[in-house]
Amino acid sequence: MDVREAYLKFFESKGHTPVASAPLVPDDATLLFNNAGMVPFKTIFTGEVPVPENPRATSCQTCVRAGGKHNDLENVGHTARHHTFFEMLGNFSFGDYFKEEAIAYAWEFVTEVLALPKEKLWVTVHESDDEAEAIWQKHIAADRIMRLGDKDNFWQMGDTGPCGPCSEIFIDQGAEHFNGPEDYMGGDGDRFLEIWNLVFMQYERNAKGELNPLPKPSIDTGMGLERVVAVKEGKLSNYDSSLFMPIINKVVDLIGKPYEYATGASYRVIADHIRTVLFLLAQGTNFSNEGRGYVLRRILRRAVRHGYLLGFTKPFMHEIVDTVVELMGHQYPYLSEKAPVVKEQIMLEEERFFKTIEDGIALFSEELKNTKDVFSGETAFKLYDTFGFPLDLTEDMLREKGLGLDTATFERLMTEQRERAKAAWKGSGDAHVEGDFKTLLEQFGENSFVGYGRMTGESKILALLSEGFGREESLHARHEGWVLLDETPFYAESGGQTGDTGLLDGVAEVLDTKKFFGLNLSKIRATATLNVGDTVTAVVDEARQEIERHHSATHLLHAALYEELGEHISQAGSLVEADRLRFDFSHPKAMTAAEIAAVEERVNLVVQRGLSNMTEEMDIEAAKQSGAKAQFGEKYGDRVRVVRFGDASIEFCGGTHVGSTSEIGMFVITKESGVSAGVRRIEAVCSKAAYDYFKQQRHLIGEAEAAVKNRDVLAGVERLKEQINTLKMELQDAQNAAKESLDAETINGVSVFVEEIKSGDVKGRIDELKNMNERVAAMLFQVKGDKVMIAAGVKNADAKAGDWIKAIAPMLGGGGGGRPDFAQAGGKDASKLPEALEASKAYITEALS
Ligand code: ALA
Repeated sequence: MDVREAYLKFFESKGHTPVASAPLVPDDATLLFNNAGMVPFKTIFTGEVPVPENPRATSCQTCVRAGGKHNDLENVGHTARHHTFFEMLGNFSFGDYFKEEAIAYAWEFVTEVLALPKEKLWVTVHESDDEAEAIWQKHIAADRIMRLGDKDNFWQMGDTGPCGPCSEIFIDQGAEHFNGPEDYMGGDGDRFLEIWNLVFMQYERNAKGELNPLPKPSIDTGMGLERVVAVKEGKLSNYDSSLFMPIINKVVDLIGKPYEYATGASYRVIADHIRTVLFLLAQGTNFSNEGRGYVLRRILRRAVRHGYLLGFTKPFMHEIVDTVVELMGHQYPYLSEKAPVVKEQIMLEEERFFKTIEDGIALFSEELKNTKDVFSGETAFKLYDTFGFPLDLTEDMLREKGLGLDTATFERLMTEQRERAKAAWKGSGDAHVEGDFKTLLEQFGENSFVGYGRMTGESKILALLSEGFGREESLHARHEGWVLLDETPFYAESGGQTGDTGLLDGVAEVLDTKKFFGLNLSKIRATATLNVGDTVTAVVDEARQEIERHHSATHLLHAALYEELGEHISQAGSLVEADRLRFDFSHPKAMTAAEIAAVEERVNLVVQRGLSNMTEEMDIEAAKQSGAKAQFGEKYGDRVRVVRFGDASIEFCGGTHVGSTSEIGMFVITKESGVSAGVRRIEAVCSKAAYDYFKQQRHLIGEAEAAVKNRDVLAGVERLKEQINTLKMELQDAQNAAKESLDAETINGVSVFVEEIKSGDVKGRIDELKNMNERVAAMLFQVKGDKVMIAAGVKNADAKAGDWIKAIAPMLGGGGGGRPDFAQAGGKDASKLPEALEASKAYITEALS
């Protein structure tokens, strides 16, 4: 049974629109990775984006959880259920149905489609949720329903965002397998396994921690695909299922040691991590030292270290990629497309890390010399921190030597480091420093963006923050940090539009601008001392103009795609920079060249019409009436902005735009490709970047003209083709001529050839002569360096090729022989060739006479 397909089909039959998985990197700076099925729909739940025409959706969302409060990364391998990468099945109601239907659908799917035995199922509801309990009693015995508190039955996306009480479905895996003290319903043991979480979305929690009601009660559910597949296959661990065993078996093949569950944590770590690494790389995240790329690097390294524990001493992860592609490429075709490049990336990263491991081992061995019984906690920490050795690797190496470890010191250093890491959070998504932002919000409220109409203005510095977001009173020349201005003309990265750069005149360069919980903060490098309370002149870099052109072009592109390809087009991601734009959208197959050309042309026609920007702020109801397109993942201000260019495009958007479409100048699509199943990507340029693109193309043509020596490239290429044809024919003639140049002498009706040839090979030429003549005796010689190749052939004549060659080859310092009709030999002394030719002729003349 294909659980993924069964789930989506089931909910489609209940009126839900299937939505393709959104990319793993969300359009939200406060979130590291897409970590739940509802993330792409967040702004619909909160009402920032209007509800789509069909308020029911279903999806199979790829998710990555690699840190944060679940500590998923460190648990992977050691539990039956933790993963860094997983797929979440979900059904969503945006203010449509609520608890009654959500519960009925879930029950029907679990008991009829999955056909899980009813007598093994249990459910939980929130302790305050009488309504859910009453609904459940229609389906399941009252004593199978448990009430639990906030910890278990209240779900929220992060520390902020949509949330609500939830209800979970459990399956009893049997006391015969699990019989620990925690193996009761509601305990921490594995006997009762949660398979599905139904969240009754009712609130949105803000940065101050307050709960505000959502516009309408909604439904978000999440079912872990890996768990359900394991349950269906009767496996007690996700890793025993058909989703993972082929990967584990591949590792077994590579290392040549058997896998056993009890001691196999390292195999499972590798099997989990290769999926995460492959998906992230294939979707365009690269290894790096910060942010998401750093998390990716840590995951790969963790897998490599476990490989090292198993005995791998050189890169191996890249060799597992194909196995994962075989398992998942059908569902996610971009995996196969990207596999060759991804393998290369993984191999290089592995190679680099294997070198570090060796250095770490050297440090370890050095420390061993100073160790009597207990290995230094400080060195273990250094191995962890600098060389990336996990504690279990170090402990394992110590175990082999029968040594202990000072874990207390290690733990202390780890705690200290965690504290430092919290302070040094770099906008990579873990919500650690929210506390600091909350204080800022309480003190100042959200600061307003005033840069729609202008590029400069006087602003007051409300707060200064260090790079790690600690509060500062001043920032000195050459130091980097963040500034909070009371009003800011700098646009903070959102909705795909990149953050503004520029100057705080005379005191700092502005390197980037980002939004954190409603605060527009600019990253700055001070050039003089700045103090809290100073008034500064903020100047946005001119690049903004080019950014605006690309942003408006994105809207026109979106509208053109909709017109050209149909109404199923919806935005799945967007990036707008000063010199390029990238637009991801749902569409089931690659666009044809004709479609791409038509879309490009539509956009250019609107550009040429010079339609004015008629942006309006309006209340949400009026905005919905206007028919404006809304986008997933986009954050809008307090009032809804609707950006409109005449009749060509109308969208909800908080970004900045051109005054007239004619400012876009020219629009060129440079690439169309796939990002994930059902999601296509268009890359395009406009304005100056389009001109640069044109110049580059013109230069290329110029180079081509020079190369073909013709001002008309096509004519030049034609001429070259003709020349090649002529040369080919001449070559053919020459080869034929060369063959014909062998002269026969006829002796008693037999054509005799004894010659040296310069081209072709002796054996081939002998065969040809035998084909071309009725009666023949031929011996051909060819000099290669100092060696001589000899072949002889006889057909319908009274001589033996083998004897003939035996008589001649020794003269050339060689030997050989063969059958009466064909023989071959090699000689080492080419200088004797004239004598050999002479002797060969004499031999055959005599034989035939
Ligand atoms: N969003 C809910 C979860 O992730 C369904 O558990």
